[in-house]
Amino acid sequence: MVTLGIETSCDETAAAIVVDGAVLSSRVSSSVHLHAKYGGVVPEIASRYHVEYISRVCKLALKDAGKKLEDIDLVAVTETPGLPGSLLVGIAFAKAVGFAGNIPVIGVNHVDAHILSCFLDNKDALAPFPFLGVVVSGGHTSIYHCKSLEDFHLIGRTKDDAAGEAFDKIAKMLGLGYPGGLIVEKRAAKFKGKDEIHFPRALLKGSRDNIDFSFSGIKTAVMYYWRSSSKTEKEKTKICFSFQEAIIDVIEKKISRALKLTGVKRLALGGGVVNNALLRGRLKALLEKKRIELYLPKKEYCGDNAAMVAFLGEKYFKYGKKKKHFLNEVV
Ligand code: KG4
Ligand code: ZN
Repeated sequence: MVTLGIETSCDETAAAIVVDGAVLSSRVSSSVHLHAKYGGVVPEIASRYHVEYISRVCKLALKDAGKKLEDIDLVAVTETPGLPGSLLVGIAFAKAVGFAGNIPVIGVNHVDAHILSCFLDNKDALAPFPFLGVVVSGGHTSIYHCKSLEDFHLIGRTKDDAAGEAFDKIAKMLGLGYPGGLIVEKRAAKFKGKDEIHFPRALLKGSRDNIDFSFSGIKTAVMYYWRSSSKTEKEKTKICFSFQEAIIDVIEKKISRALKLTGVKRLALGGGVVNNALLRGRLKALLEKKRIELYLPKKEYCGDNAAMVAFLGEKYFKYGKKKKHFLNEVV
């Protein structure tokens, strides 16, 4: 089965061809450079970029895969969550392709697609259910108890900022650029001192079962520290290191709690922040110790991409019932 995936929920215009779980092509064109001077995504700029590039990106994905429109059996498109104007471009384009080729168009949830991104290129195979699905990205920091393909139950989420958003805001505060994740990670790797700053780890006390996140407090703590610091490059490096340690400590702790609470033995991780080498390493070590099987996405599938959208759409089409809903009327 040949699926064309389309993703336009935020600032990446992406298209991919997936055949029975295997990725034949995956193209991503990002408007991130246009948002850099604002230090965050400007919705209007993002949607205009999608309008300009969606057609070209789809054509390239088809060409890379050696496929034509006539070969497509299914179109899968991100339906929610995301910036409304950006989502609309992808959905309208997907419906047009469906209409032109008389192809069914299926809508998928972007966060659910991130959860399954670690199974891409895995020959149609998912981990056996149940497993924990953890998404750490610029828009989400959430933990799901995934009981079946169509039952992803949200058990923990951020109360304020997402982890990636916190990385971006810290980088902006320190004048380091945008997006902040990779910049902060690289900067933190340069820290050689022993005088780490102890930024707060918000574990949201009250219940040891609490697996929600909060990252706004650490952002404020960094802001106050930075205001009264000597504002040297050395200080920036120390802040990046200490901030990253605090964020990863919290993610580790919440994942440990969620595993204990649910008793599941497998964990699937996804989202842009999973690019972070320290986070990947720390979670690998933690889960190995706990004898939990960890599924990590390849680096190219951590951030927003359309291969994960095609993959999930194909799964719904083949095995879905309640989430197998079509956005057009051709089936
Ligand atoms: O999944 P994604 O591409 O978009 C959303 O769905 O949000 O994630 C983008 C986020 C940005 O906030 C970016 O700063 C963060 O992922 N990110 C990282 C790293 N690479 C990207 N955060 C920490 N370390 C990284 N290496
Ligand atoms: Zn995403």
